[in-house]
Amino acid sequence: PTVKATNVVWHAHHVSRAERAAQKKQQPCVIWFTGLSGAGKSTVANALEGELFRKGYHSYLLDGDNIRFGLNKDLGFSDTDRVENIRRIGEVAKLFADAGLIVVTAFISPFRADRDMVRKLLPEGEFFEIHVHAALDVCEGRDPKGLYKKARAGEIKNFTGIDSPYEPPVNPELVLDTGALSIEQSVDKLLAFLKEKGRI
Ligand code: PPS
Repeated sequence: PTVKATNVVWHAHHVSRAERAAQKKQQPCVIWFTGLSGAGKSTVANALEGELFRKGYHSYLLDGDNIRFGLNKDLGFSDTDRVENIRRIGEVAKLFADAGLIVVTAFISPFRADRDMVRKLLPEGEFFEIHVHAALDVCEGRDPKGLYKKARAGEIKNFTGIDSPYEPPVNPELVLDTGALSIEQSVDKLLAFLKEKGRI
């Protein structure tokens, strides 16, 4: 997107992102969960953040429902609003990674182009797309918030997987099949992955 404001110039900071990361003694990155409602994004993201915290890393979790109470409370679930939702979250994730943090995000982020856009915002190798995967009927069977039921009854419009599309990742860094894996197993896979990538 183009910059709307005129007479604005980019300022270089005196403290670089590399210096901030070095002071934290960690490698910042964005661990981007994507998947259907009810696939387990928030659950796994929270469990992962808990483990990172216990290990002494400075992390921050950006989570779908919570961001929609604050920063993105002006956005709904139309395609254009979802695009803007992910654009803003991508920019926030980038700022937090600049601050030296390990960022974990849990949003449906249904559109491939938006996830690719966030990937491009970050330095090479700092964006990890994690597909939290469970089949639609599994998610619908769980229905923790009763939203699928409402969507099937036509009480919620534009519900992902029902009458709004979900575009699965083509080349994610990791797939977690939450129909088969326990929460602990998913977290173990993530920790092994982050270790292999030299992030922890
Ligand atoms: S998106 O598509 O990335 O902008 O969505 P996100 O910000 O992650 O918000 C998804 C959560 O909002 C609730 N909700 C809906 N989801 C999908 N479609 C519709 N129409 C909808 N309405 C409300 C739902 O609780 C989602 O939470 P999760 O944790 O994914 O189940």
